Amino acid sequence: MTGISGFQCAGIVGGGQMGAGIAQVCATNGLKTILVDINPKQIETAKSGIAGSLEKLASKGIITTEQKSIALGNITYASDLNSLKDCDIVVEAIIENERIKTELFQSLDKITKQSCILASNTSSIPITRLAAATSRPDKFIGMHFMNPVPLMKLVEVIPGIATSEDTTKRILDLSIGLGKETSRSADYPGFVVNRILMPMINEAFNALMEGVASAEDIDKGMKLGTNQPMGPLTLADFIGLDTCYAILKVLHEGMGDPRYAPSPLLAKYVEAGWYGRKSKRGVYKY
Ligand code: CAA
Repeated sequence: MTGISGFQCAGIVGGGQMGAGIAQVCATNGLKTILVDINPKQIETAKSGIAGSLEKLASKGIITTEQKSIALGNITYASDLNSLKDCDIVVEAIIENERIKTELFQSLDKITKQSCILASNTSSIPITRLAAATSRPDKFIGMHFMNPVPLMKLVEVIPGIATSEDTTKRILDLSIGLGKETSRSADYPGFVVNRILMPMINEAFNALMEGVASAEDIDKGMKLGTNQPMGPLTLADFIGLDTCYAILKVLHEGMGDPRYAPSPLLAKYVEAGWYGRKSKRGVYKY
């Protein structure tokens, strides 16, 4: 099995949890996949994370052992962006910093072939603004995967104002080929998922700050009371409190509406370096 809807080779930039997950899903579904990270340690972490995840999925019968081997064979790792020159699509999944993302896309614009679609996995930075830094805003799009990528069904597809309908259609088709469901969103702050999810998480922090209930009771109330897999505070620790805080700031600034102002308690946790699971301390201790 090679290729999906005219795409043969995918480049992923950023070997963190999201980038590794996206690379895994691309490779499992038949794309030649190149995962690039400038940090060799991050590449090693991504490699073992992907191997572990594929092993788990195979042991549960979610993928076959043959699919696991195909996936492993489809991925190569690199530290140099030039290795992406023949890719049909490059998905960026680096740190949520607009300046660094913009510089990366300017480099990718020079390196990749003209037909290559450039996609960002950003959770909230405007797609139109990132696209404007390239010479191909018509071939630029938001492709927002959910964490953990191998398990979560959704890809939010966000065309910028200049994205062509052809690019949007190709990315919707590609996402389906990756075994995902899609939802399309216009390019407004937080798109759809984070615009609705983050205010819920923020409200949970405000309820905790005001002493309405303990963290455990807030999570239990929402988990069992509204049938969510995780309560909002557990989910915030899972996503990363620094990420939640950054997204709320983008919503607050982008919408100019005080209802999106980050909870002072969330801000305090982030200032303390309590980022959630990844730092072993967030709302809960790990
Ligand atoms: N690959 C393979 N297996 C994985 C995995 C991965 N990447 N991540 C977790 N698993 C496995 C676990 O190891 C576990 O395996 P075992 O059953 O063998 O122990 C299994 O999946 C199920 O996990 P758990 O039993 O721990 O818990 P669960 O049944 O609740 O499922 C979950 C885990 C899918 C994460 C579920 O809790 C869930 O859906 N949580 C909500 C996640 C969510 O909302 N994500 C979106 C966040 S928002 C976002 O990503 C966008 C943004 O911009 C912030």
